[in-house]
This record gives sequence, structure tokens and C-alpha cells, in this order.
Amino acid sequence: MKKLILSVFLCSSLALTALAAEKATVVVDASQPGPQISRHIYGHFAEHLGHCIYGGIWVGPESSIPNTDGYRNDIVEALKEIRIPNLRWPGGCFADEYHWRDGIGPRESRPKMINTHWGGVVEDNSFGTHEFLNFCELIGTEPYICGNVGSGTVEEMSKWVEYITFDGESPMANLRRENGRDKPWQVKFWGVGNENWGCGGNMTAEFYSDQYRRYATYCRDYGDNHLWKIAGGPNSGDYRWTETLMKQINGRAWGISLHHYTVPKGWGPGGKGSATDFTEEEYVITMEKCFMMDELITRHTEIMDKYDPKKRMAFCVDEWGAWYDVEPGTNPGFLYQQNTLRDALLCASTFNIFHKHADRVRLANIAQMVNVLQAIILTKDDQMVLTPTYHVYNMYKVHQDATQIPVELDVPQYSLGSRSLPAVNASASRDAEGTVHVSLVNIDPENDIDIVCPLRGVKAAKVSGQILTADRLDVHNTFENPQAVVLKEFSKAKLNKNGELVLTLPAKSVVTLTLQ
Ligand code: AHR
Repeated sequence: MKKLILSVFLCSSLALTALAAEKATVVVDASQPGPQISRHIYGHFAEHLGHCIYGGIWVGPESSIPNTDGYRNDIVEALKEIRIPNLRWPGGCFADEYHWRDGIGPRESRPKMINTHWGGVVEDNSFGTHEFLNFCELIGTEPYICGNVGSGTVEEMSKWVEYITFDGESPMANLRRENGRDKPWQVKFWGVGNENWGCGGNMTAEFYSDQYRRYATYCRDYGDNHLWKIAGGPNSGDYRWTETLMKQINGRAWGISLHHYTVPKGWGPGGKGSATDFTEEEYVITMEKCFMMDELITRHTEIMDKYDPKKRMAFCVDEWGAWYDVEPGTNPGFLYQQNTLRDALLCASTFNIFHKHADRVRLANIAQMVNVLQAIILTKDDQMVLTPTYHVYNMYKVHQDATQIPVELDVPQYSLGSRSLPAVNASASRDAEGTVHVSLVNIDPENDIDIVCPLRGVKAAKVSGQILTADRLDVHNTFENPQAVVLKEFSKAKLNKNGELVLTLPAKSVVTLTLQ
């Protein structure tokens, strides 16, 4: 920390003691309530990639792993606990190669294909439309389907919508009935392609915009099912893509997407960085790149504001998270990586950014749910481990659909070499019962920070809380030691005589406080 380093030069142990815990102020101003924090920013993503679907979610009804109709019981329980609002499927890059008719009907007669993007393995299509939509019903989440623009046809996408959502007599609705499902499913979120600037067809923004208009036209609303169409938006800082899309499709989509991954060492041939074996410099770079999300959302939504000043369209960060080198010895095409306390700090900081932009960011999906990239759950045969990122989802679920409360921060910097970041980030909300929750992240790996939160428009008599932390940034949960990073009660926050919330926020920790 800059201030602490300066104090060392004072060579006074008194000065050191006095400055050891730095001070921060976080004003929580409920007198000026903000927009609703959509629960859909807590969405997830399950692609046909590595062991996300197969082995992760789906083991099939004949498996010796305890399951309900083929879905792992342990996964179902874990997902229910964190109240997943929506689940994006079947990809990702896989979506633009997926032909949904291969994944319906008797499983044994479904055709096999090569998963060219992800390891070149055989995809036997045993997890298809019915399996996905029934899974969503089982865990109580809304499906978010991504249709194939890159290698599919308008007719194929149009018929998929009809197959899933039409209640009357039609070739597709009748086919669904033949396959065992009488009533249609409700599907709201519908993606029209994925990364169409890249794996989804390498299109120009102009060409994709036209394709979007064409495909979206034939994705119909049947009965009371209303599709919320999501156009394939930009890759990270591609502002031109957003500008073009907004010019061409404004008003024709519910939202546009953004994909942004945090890759500590970048996409070059030297590797992205290890998930568990990293230096403090790599850590600070990771957090710096994570904080870029704020700038990306700000700049993309400024462009959206020009065309859509009433903010009707949503900005959907439907792929985000940390992307590291795969775990040594695993298939490079399966993107299996571990998940440490660093990822929890990244995840909570990203949620605080999403909360800040709740007026536009109304949907987000971490990549990915099980066994892939910044997974919330890892599995090995019949074992399951909840990652630190899972615990952040559990801790932050109190913010789902709550009203954002603006926060104003005056915080010290966490500095390393020439890099310097705000040590603390935060957000707050008030839920439907009137309970206020304040979430705070201290990214500084060494220094606790004394926090004072003046509360405006909040009457609180008691405070309770939860904390996620560990001794080191690289601590992670393993199959041998699954409880290394878990949520614990945090009872050190108090309300002082001025009615302010006061606490010492431990180094490298995430805390959520409940004020009643
Ligand atoms: O999440 C992994 C991949 O990252 C997705 O398939 C793709 O959309 C993105 O490039």
C-alpha cells in the first residue's frame, strides 16, 4: 500500500502501528435509491465443452453416480441453494455448430458429431433440448438458449422456437409431443448467434446486423411466450461493433451481449497464467483486468445511450470470468482450471461493478457453471467441490432483484510497483422486505482496512454478516480438502453511537453485511 510504504520511511514504529490499518469511508445513501438489480446478472453458462455437461451436470439415468433422470443429485442441490436465475446453453462457440434436431428423439438413435471447437471429441447428442429444458425446470431456473447463426439456417432457428414454445397443432409442436413433451416450455431469453465476430462466423458488424434482423424476424412469439432476443454484441473493447449494431438493430432486440474474459498474461502463445501458482504481480494484473469491466460497460453503454436514451435495451455480459492455463495433465481443449480466493475477489468485485451499472446490465453469465473456466463447481467421478466463486454467488444472492443503493467510496490504494488499484470496492441494496445488504471487497492481500459507513436513509438496529477469506490468495478447495475456503459468520461489524456502520475489513476478503 502506498501510504503504508511511505510510513516505513518515517522509521517510526508508532507511525507504522498508527497506519497499519488504513481507513476508508463508504457512504451508503439509501435516500437516493437506484434501479433494480436484476436477478439475471447472477446467470450461468453451460456449454458442450469438456466436462461441463457430460460428467458435470449429466451422467445419464443408468449411471452409478446418484442422479435424478440422469442429472447429478449433488449438482442439482448445490445449484438450487444459490438460486440460479437463468442458464445459457448450448454454447458458446459450440452453439454456432449445433443442430438442435440431432439432440431430440430416442437417445440411442441420435447422430454423433465431432465437437470441433472443444477437443475434437465425439458429441453423442444425449443431452439435447428436452434434457436441457427439463434440467432448467428441475433446478428452477429460466433457460437462455443461444441459436445457431454461424452454420445454421433461418428455418432451423425458427423451427426450434416453434418446437419448444408452440402449444397448438403444427409440425414442430407435434414432433415435440411425439418425443414425450405435450405442453410447450416457456423460454424468454433467446440469443441470436454467439461471437459472430469470431467463432460464430467471422462476420463484419454490418453483415451480422443484417443477419440478426433476418433471423430475429422468424423467431416468433407463440401464445403467451414472449422471446427476449439478445443480439451477439462486442468482444471486449470493440466499440465499433456496438455502434454499428445499435445503428442497425435498435428496438429489434431486448439486449445486446458483451464477452469479456480476465486473462492475466493475455492471449499470446506464452500462456495465460496458472490458476493456482501465481505471483503477487500476476494477482494485481488480474484485478486490474477485472476492473476493466467497469470501463467497458461505461463506454459501451454510452454508445447505447446515444441510440436508446431511455435505456430500453439491456446490456448482457453473457460471458465473463477468469481464463487461465488448464490444470496440468488435463485436455487443453476442455478448459478445466482450479479456482482460488483470487477468483472469489474477482467475482465479488465484478458483481459490485454490475450493481453499479444496474440501469443497463440486466443479465450476465459467468463462464462456466461446472468444470470449465471460472467454474462454481468442480467434479471428479462421484465427488463434487464447491469453489470459492460458488461461495460468492451464495453470499451475493441477497442482492437478486433488490433495489440498488448508491455507495460513495473514499478508500486507500493497493499498490505494487507501478500498479495501483482502489483497495476496497463495494455495493449495497435494499430487498423487498426492506433489509439492507452491504457487500465489501478488500483486494489488498496484506492489509486490513478500517471502514466507516455513514448510513443515509437506513434505520438499522442490528448487523450481521458473512465473510469469505483465507490465509493466502492461492488457497483453493480440492477433492481432498473441500472446505479450505468457505463462508463463515462475520460478527465484527457494529453500529456506532452515530448510527454508522463500522468494521475492520480483513485483507483479501469479501464480506456481506445484513442491516435490520
Ligand atoms: O467460454 C468458452 C468460449 O469462450 C465460448 O465458447 C466462446 O463464446 C468464448 O470465446
